[in-house]
This record gives sequence, C-alpha cells and structure tokens, in this order.
Amino acid sequence: MTTPTLGLNAESIPRSGIRDVFDRAEKVPGAISLCVGEPRHTASPAVARAACDSIRRGLTTYTDILGIPDFRHAAANYTSRVKGLEYDPDHEIQAMEGATMGIFLALKAVIDPGDEVIIPSPFFPSYQAAVLMCGGVPRTVALSPRNGMHLNAEDIDRAVGPRTKAVIINSPGNPTGAVTSAEELADVADVCIRHGLWAISDEVYHRFVFLPGVDSAPSIASARGMKNRTIIIDSLSKTFAMTGWRMGYLLAPAHVIEQTSKMAELVHSSVNSMAQYGGIAALNGPDEDVDRMRREYLDGRRIVVDGLAGCRSLRLIPSEGAFYAFVDVRPTGMSSEEFSRELLARYGVAVVPGEAFGAEGSGFVRLSYAGDPESLREGVRRLADFADERTQSIPTEGFDPRAMDATA
Ligand SMILES: Cc1ncc(COP(=O)(O)O)c(C=O)c1O
Repeated sequence: MTTPTLGLNAESIPRSGIRDVFDRAEKVPGAISLCVGEPRHTASPAVARAACDSIRRGLTTYTDILGIPDFRHAAANYTSRVKGLEYDPDHEIQAMEGATMGIFLALKAVIDPGDEVIIPSPFFPSYQAAVLMCGGVPRTVALSPRNGMHLNAEDIDRAVGPRTKAVIINSPGNPTGAVTSAEELADVADVCIRHGLWAISDEVYHRFVFLPGVDSAPSIASARGMKNRTIIIDSLSKTFAMTGWRMGYLLAPAHVIEQTSKMAELVHSSVNSMAQYGGIAALNGPDEDVDRMRREYLDGRRIVVDGLAGCRSLRLIPSEGAFYAFVDVRPTGMSSEEFSRELLARYGVAVVPGEAFGAEGSGFVRLSYAGDPESLREGVRRLADFADERTQSIPTEGFDPRAMDATA
C-alpha cells in the first residue's frame, strides 16, 4: 500500500509569519496586540442595512461573474471620483472576494510557470505566496530605510531579467507605511514600459495617506502609458471597515478581466451577493466614515511618534500612510524575532517581526496603530521601555526617531 503524497508546490508555500505572532499572543493573557491589520470599527449601518435588505428581498442567487452591474458601476464611479481614473464597468471591472483573491487571479492571468515577478521587499506576504502558487519566481528588491522605504526605479530596473513579467506595487505600503509619489511611480512606469512589464498595483490603503493635501495615494495607472498595462487591486476591507465581508475588485484592461473572470467562475462561481449589495452602499456612500478613520489613524500615528520620541534605541521609518509604523530595532542588538518574542513574554506586547514580510524586513518590527488609543499608548510605552532597557549601543547617526513628524 502506498501513501498518497502532497503536492510539492503546496508544501513549498511558506505559512504567513503574521499568523505565528497571533498564535503566540493568544497564549499570553491580557497581552496588548499591536499586530492588528484591520480597522477597529465595523461597516457603517447603511452598509449593513443594504446587505440585510438584499437578503429580505431574496436577492441571494449567483451573480454575474464580473459582479452585480450596480456594484461595478459603483466601483467605476468611486474610482473616477477618488482616483480620477475611468474604467468601463462592463469590461474592465470585476468584483472580487477581497484583495487577496485579486492578487492571486491577477498573477494567474499574467504569468506562466518560471516567469519572474519583482516584489519590493519587505512586502505583504500574499504576494510571494501567490507568485509561488502560480509556479512563478518571486524576485525581491530591497527597499531601503535610507530612502524611507520608497520604491526605487533604478533598483527595479536592475532586477529585470529575461523572464520578468510583472512588478508588484503597494502604496501606501504594508508593512512600511511608505507612500510612493507620482514622480517615483512615473519612474517605475518608464521601467515597465521599457521592459514590457505588467504593474500589479495593490491600492487597498489608498485613502489612508497622511501627506498634506493628499486625499488618495497616487496610482501607477495614472502614469503616462500605464493604464493598459496596470492591474489595480482594490478592496473595501480597509477603506470601509469591511474586512470580514470579503469584498474587493479588480480594475484592468478588458482582456485581463476576460481571463480573471473566466478563472473566477471556475473556482468560486461568483462573489457573495449580500456583500456586493453592502459594497454598493459603501462605494456610493458619503466620505464621513473614511474621513473619521483617517483622523483616528492620524491620532494613532501621533501616539506612536510621541511615545517613541524619547527612545534613543528605536528608529522609525516615516509612516506616510496605511496604519503601520515600521520600526528599526537593530540598535537594541536583538534580531526582530527575538525582540518580538521577548517583548511579548516580558512586557505583554505583541508586534510582528519584520521577517514575516520577507528577509529584507529583518531588523525591524511592524506595529499597527489602528487599534484603540489607550492600548496603543500603553503598548508603545512598554515597547520603548523594553527597547531602552535592552539597548546595547546608542546610535549616533541614522534616523531621528521624530522623523515621522516631517510628514504630519
Ligand atoms: C497590502 C495588503 N493587501 C491586501 C490585503 C488583503 O485585503 P483583503 O481583506 O481585501 O483581502 C491586506 C490585508 O492586510 C494588505 O495589507
């Protein structure tokens, strides 16, 4: 009798390191978690009402694989209003079960086994996993703390090889909080155009930008010549506090949507109907809730900046967007894994070690400031105390811990 074996491809996919921290934190009673990657609020009452109404009205059948037409129109109008980009709701928009599914299907549509995908690192873990699941080869390009973890087109250019097919862009970025400027995106666009690459742009944090006068992070699809080679992945999870609804969408050229929708139909038939009705209300609704969340994240960011201002043993990467602070813990002499474990065990605070976001995250930890302000204040205080206690050498140069103020 021979025991059936598992697929090598499945076994080669690394587990998310973020999950490990969650598991560890659950075992420490009363621990303060600065790991949360989601808004602390729930969707607005209007969104919940719209979804409930759809159930009462019996609108619960399979939907069009591209999504309910009203959902696609709402996504098109929202994108036009907020990002200034026009997409045809009949051919260039597809409802998705969250951005995560969008990342996978976008990659599946454009790469063949053996093709390389450039991933600026540190990165959101699903990128690498999705490339591997498609049989592709992730090619990481290190983001530099000296450059505020911003994308550098020259580094991307140098990483392009004969099998490179796409570049992943995530701005505002998780875990770095960096926002790529329109100028930087234009430089990356030149590289994409010169080498015939796709840009896969994950824009789930686009509304949470803390740069003066910026209401939505710039999209590479706005750069000249890029709209027909960009796949935008967007989601209602963060913008409208709808993480559990699993609702997002792709914006892409029609021939890409033809492929992603064909595959989506075969793997999940259609996106949850009530989530789409809730999504219509969210996308068409007023901006108040988004604005309130942005103000709250700005307050949270201020708590982090102030809480670490006197701490000489940690360096903050300026957080320009999303709701993450990426903190350099190397001056403490500890690895990020060690820092994260000891901080949890001794001070009861959970942060995610940078390696969970790729090898280039080593030496950093990510903390989220989306949680409640009191816990955040206390968590940051303990973090600073712990770091100072453990510091072996005080840096004489490098980032001023108050550098984040520069973008406030
Ligand atoms: C950069 C990034 N992309 C995508 C996602 C997943 O979004 P969704 O809930 O829409 O799948 C996350 C979640 O944390 C994220 O940080």
